[in-house]
Amino acid sequence: MADLHTQYLRIKPEIDSAIQEVLDSTAFIQGPQVNQFANSLAAYLDSNFVIACANGTDALQIAMMALGCKPGDEVIIPVHTYVATAEVIVLLGLKPVFTEVDAKNFNLDASKLEEKISDRTFAIVPVHLYGQCADMEPILALAKKYNVHVIEDVAQALGAVYTFSNGEKKRAGTMSTIGCTSFFPSKSLGCFGDGGQSSHRIQH
Ligand SMILES: Cc1ncc(COP(=O)(O)O)c(C=O)c1O
Repeated sequence: MADLHTQYLRIKPEIDSAIQEVLDSTAFIQGPQVNQFANSLAAYLDSNFVIACANGTDALQIAMMALGCKPGDEVIIPVHTYVATAEVIVLLGLKPVFTEVDAKNFNLDASKLEEKISDRTFAIVPVHLYGQCADMEPILALAKKYNVHVIEDVAQALGAVYTFSNGEKKRAGTMSTIGCTSFFPSKSLGCFGDGGQSSHRIQH
């Protein structure tokens, strides 16, 4: 796992002064630093909106609720992911439907996806793992064909880039209806505590 102590020591003066600034301002909830971070991340992702929240699990829950999920709806997720992806679905009274992953990269296998889509399918949640994007182009095409939402789980691949067949490039989390990530301390962009975010990019 990540050596968090060494990471901290490497940037200690910057971290200490940023934390001291928050203590001095006593803006402990939704202070200006949160907005500043959300804006910087939106610019980095080329996303229209970034909403900071308590952790990646909450980001997934908020995304599903915002899109109007109803108890009994089905959500398709890969068999290989962190438990939070499925946990949120069950918590909301939805049904997780597991689909296969590609043995080469452990991401959702788009060729096995269509057989899992039913008239109860509410959303597909591709999980981008190990810094690599799931093969989004065929996933998005199927979602469009069956008119279902796609919510990307980016908790393990923030910053990854996907290239579409026309050469267009997009960052993980900005290719679908909503992208969700985690800033758990050991993640690729970890925070000193718990954190998460959902992002939305207006599709043209
Ligand atoms: C793929 C995946 N999804 C969701 C989460 C949940 O994020 P958090 O721990 O910030 O709630 C994680 C965290 O480990 C994860 O790896």
